[in-house]
Amino acid sequence: MKPINLFEYEQAARQKLSPSAYGYYAGGASDEITVSDNRRAYDDIQILPHVLRDVSNRDLSTTLLGQQLDFPVVIAPMAMAALAHPDKELGIAESSKQFGIPMCLSTLSTTKMEDVSATGVNSWFQLYVHKDRGLTRELVSRAEASGYTALVVTVDVSVAGYREYLVRNPLQLPDGVGLEILTDYWNRGEYPNINAYVAAQFDASLTWEDIETFASQTRLPVIIKGILRADDAKESLNRGVAGIVVSNHGGRQLDTVPATIDVLPEIAEVVNGRCDLLVDGGVRRGTDIIKALALGAKAVMLGRPILWGLAVDGQAGVTDILTILCREFDIGLALAGCVSSTSISRDIVRRRI
Ligand code: FNR
Ligand code: LAC
Repeated sequence: MKPINLFEYEQAARQKLSPSAYGYYAGGASDEITVSDNRRAYDDIQILPHVLRDVSNRDLSTTLLGQQLDFPVVIAPMAMAALAHPDKELGIAESSKQFGIPMCLSTLSTTKMEDVSATGVNSWFQLYVHKDRGLTRELVSRAEASGYTALVVTVDVSVAGYREYLVRNPLQLPDGVGLEILTDYWNRGEYPNINAYVAAQFDASLTWEDIETFASQTRLPVIIKGILRADDAKESLNRGVAGIVVSNHGGRQLDTVPATIDVLPEIAEVVNGRCDLLVDGGVRRGTDIIKALALGAKAVMLGRPILWGLAVDGQAGVTDILTILCREFDIGLALAGCVSSTSISRDIVRRRI
């Protein structure tokens, strides 16, 4: 029987993927406490539904950065989709376009950025700042020239997180799979694995001044991804960002940082609508989206489940993942007494007592 929820898709994907590819996709840093906290934290939030509200017509759409989304989900940037399926990033792009939602493409994509945006998807570019600032500027220019509509600067990978599964199962890129955006820089002979590349090429000296520089040098709206503190969210606003992703990188970077949904409220309070807020990490049910929007996010980013769908059935699998999530979200809205993504009020959620 076909998987019927995002958890079953992970189990089905595990049967299809090599141990090292599954480990790379599923794994987190150290003891993976944050990986499980990201999920547990959603389960510890309850929905307190309003009844007797006319929910016969529901509007799932929202706007982010002035862009129209048919439902409040953005595809999270994830490296090396080619490890999952030959449809790779293009399959994800086609499904995202079908659902009217943006796809955020990783710098570590296994598909050229121009080929992804050529599908017509609303494409955002996720930038890893390299020590080579000339390369960094070239990446931003290429994104601008090929129709990307936002620049997402990831700030929680100054160094690669310590992931023990990579120690046990070193990830070797299969022949024919390469970092297609970084072709001139990625030389598998020089970098035996992704961590070696990160250590050699990523700029650990990045500071707030750099963020301000990036924001001033591009016409694209800049989103900072990897904020967990309210004071850093406030600093982001001072540096001219258009959006913030409250993220702990899916628990893959620093273990024992808090679950993202647990810190979202205090960040939303400080931001107070002055930029668009997204949250990611552990989103697996439509009700999770309701909880995230009730606690101050305008949309969520969806990570690993997209890779599970891709691994199981390529583009069709990604489409099924988004179909399941959208259906669960719609049912949840109705039963919570909400008529739209933009009218989910704070009072419908509470902590489990
Ligand atoms: C990621 N993530 C990530 N983030 C980023 O900014 N650039 C990247 O290249 C990657 N690469 C990457 C690869 C894989 C295999 C995973 C699972 C994740 C982090 C990603 O964007 C997102 O923050 C988390 O995946 C969200 O958590 P969930 O939805 O996977 O629980
Ligand atoms: C990861 C880095 C590449 O999470 O973002 O694997």
